[in-house]
Amino acid sequence: MGFWKGKNVVVTGGSGFLGSHVVEILEAEGARVTVPRKRDFNLMTLDGSLRCFLEARPDLVIHGAAFYGGIWINQVHPGRIYYENLVMGANVIEACRLAGVKKFVGVGTACSYPGYLEGLLSEERLWDGPLHDSVRNYGLTKKMMQVQCWAYQKQYGFNGIHLILTNLYGPRDSYNPQRSHVVAALIRKFVEAEMTRAPEVEVWGTGKPIREFLYVQDCAEGIVRAAEVYDEVEPLNLGTGLGTSIRELTDLTHELSGFQGQIRWNADKPDGQMVKILDVSKMKKALGWQPPTSLRDGLEKTIHWYREHKAEADERF
Ligand SMILES: NC(=O)c1ccc[n+]([C@@H]2O[C@H](COP(=O)([O-])OP(=O)(O)OC[C@H]3O[C@@H](n4cnc5c(N)ncnc54)[C@H](OP(=O)(O)O)[C@@H]3O)[C@@H](O)[C@H]2O)c1
Repeated sequence: MGFWKGKNVVVTGGSGFLGSHVVEILEAEGARVTVPRKRDFNLMTLDGSLRCFLEARPDLVIHGAAFYGGIWINQVHPGRIYYENLVMGANVIEACRLAGVKKFVGVGTACSYPGYLEGLLSEERLWDGPLHDSVRNYGLTKKMMQVQCWAYQKQYGFNGIHLILTNLYGPRDSYNPQRSHVVAALIRKFVEAEMTRAPEVEVWGTGKPIREFLYVQDCAEGIVRAAEVYDEVEPLNLGTGLGTSIRELTDLTHELSGFQGQIRWNADKPDGQMVKILDVSKMKKALGWQPPTSLRDGLEKTIHWYREHKAEADERF
C-alpha cells in the first residue's frame, strides 16, 4: 500500500475500537491523520464537523464515529442511537461537501439489511424489506448516509462510498456488559470463569443463530483498501462471508480460554435474527482482497489481548 502517504486524513471515531486500528494502518502508510474527539469537535453539529474539516483540510474522511452497542444499549437508548447517528451522518457528509473533501468513506453496518431475508445478504438486496425490529433505529440511520452520498453525487459530483460491515471482534473492543457484543461478552465470561475456577458459565439464547465475525484489524485493512480503490456510490459489503453458529463460537471460546467447567444455555433469553451473513463476492472482486485472519486465530489473539488489558477493557463504555 502507501497510497495515502503524505495525504491528510480525518478518521472520525479514530479513538474507538475500529477507528484506532484504521488510524494505525494509515499512519504506517505515512498519512497525516487527524482524530477529532467529541470534546473538541461535536460532529453532531454542522459547525463542529465543518471546523474539523476546515482545520484538517483532509483529502479523505473516514466516518466511523457512532453511538451504539449491544442488546443492553439498544434497549435503554433507542432514541439516542437514532438521533445521534442520523444527525452526525448528515452533518459530517454536508461538512465534507462544504469543505471540498475529495473522498468520503461512510462506515455502515449489516444491521441496515432487511431483517427477514433468506440467504446471503448481497448489496442489491439492501432495500428489499423492513429492518429487524431490534435494530431499525440504528440500521436506518446508517443507510441514510448511503442515500446522502448517492444524492450528493448526483447533484454535486460528491465522491462518497458506503461500506457495510459485519460483526467485529478483537483487541480494544468494549468488554463492559452495557456496551459489549457477543464475542466480547463470551470472552469475558469464560476468562473470568477460568480465573475464578467457576463450575459453569451461563450463555444466553439457544446457540442456534448464525452470524459472521470479522477480526477488527482485517476490517481496518479492508476499509483503507476500499478508500483507495473503490469509487462506486453503490454500497460494498465488508465481511468474511462465513457463518458460525453462536454454539460453535461459544465452544471455540470455551476451548481457547482454558475454562474447564460446563456451559449452561439459558433459552429464555432472546435469540434475535436467525441467520445473518454477508455476500462478499463483490468485495473480493472490487478490492482483490479477503480477510486473512481465521476465527480461531483472531479469537486466540483477542483472548490474549483481553487477559493483558482486562481492567481497562472491562471499564471501556
Ligand atoms: N463493532 C462492531 O461490531 C461494528 C459492526 C458494524 C459496524 N460498526 C461501525 O463501526 C464504527 C466504529 O465502531 P466502534 O465499535 O469502533 O465504535 P466505538 O469504539 O464506540 O467508538 C465510537 C467513536 O465515536 C466517537 N463519537 C461518538 N459520538 C461522537 C460525536 N458526537 N462527535 C465526535 N465523535 C463522536 C467517539 O469519540 P470520543 O472517544 O471522542 O467520544 C468514539 O471514538 C461505528 O460507526 C459502528 O457503527 C461496528
